[in-house]
Amino acid sequence: MLKIIHVSDTHVAPFGQAVVGLNPCARLSSVVSSINRHHSDAAVCVITGDLTDRGEVAAYETLAEILSESRVPCRLLLGNHDNRPNFRRVFPNEPVDRFGFVQSAMDLDDVRLIFLDTLDDDHPGWGRMCAERIQWLEEVFKDKAASRSLIFMHHPPFSVGVPIFDDIMLNEPHPFLSTIKAEKSILHIAFGHLHLTTSGIWHGIPFSCNRGVSHRIALSFKPGVTEFMESEPTYDIITVTEAGVLVHHTSPVTDGDIIAREYPTDDGMGRLEFTRP
Ligand SMILES: [Fe+2]
Ligand SMILES: [Fe+2]
Repeated sequence: MLKIIHVSDTHVAPFGQAVVGLNPCARLSSVVSSINRHHSDAAVCVITGDLTDRGEVAAYETLAEILSESRVPCRLLLGNHDNRPNFRRVFPNEPVDRFGFVQSAMDLDDVRLIFLDTLDDDHPGWGRMCAERIQWLEEVFKDKAASRSLIFMHHPPFSVGVPIFDDIMLNEPHPFLSTIKAEKSILHIAFGHLHLTTSGIWHGIPFSCNRGVSHRIALSFKPGVTEFMESEPTYDIITVTEAGVLVHHTSPVTDGDIIAREYPTDDGMGRLEFTRP
């Protein structure tokens, strides 16, 4: 079994500064601690972009400091809130493709993890898979050393029916969509950007969105105002077996969060013990 951690939208600001009234550094630290405690056997932790809120060098330095505590190796992807030159300055060892985009692939036995760079430098908010990035992806697909693949990216490449995000999804997605529709090895696509827990199947390809570490966004099917919420930070656990893919959505849990424990009994009814008076 292959275990992958999917984290997204950390929105880290320099020196622990607040973002929409929340502390993204403390929230990410709690996620790293939870992963270290419960899932240190994962092969990789993929963070699908909006690593920082404003892309400053100092924000990437803060991110590097927090992630240095992770026992699971991390692979970092860019989102619309990121800045590619500043990211590469602070993370010079993160792999890039020959065009300089933060794209790479990792083969774990017969499963290939493909990490895409959808940052559009010219249009804030939007995502982009330009001709060069698609060319690199097609070359990855031509290598048949792995028979199954998972794609990780920041932007959803198709509409998820939420108007505020349809305005900042992958711009001009059709060349990219044609490429992935034609590729039979894809088991799953995992992305972020929405700050929502969303999953489904697109043209036969299952997908999941991790809601992220920082602020949550209120689900609305109407255009207009974006409403931000405080909810617990999240991460997803993706397991790949011979049978397929499982995605569990979870959050850091402390002993103080547990209100009761049920212990098994011979009569099958269980014995409930409350943790609070
Ligand atoms: Fe985000
Ligand atoms: Fe985003």
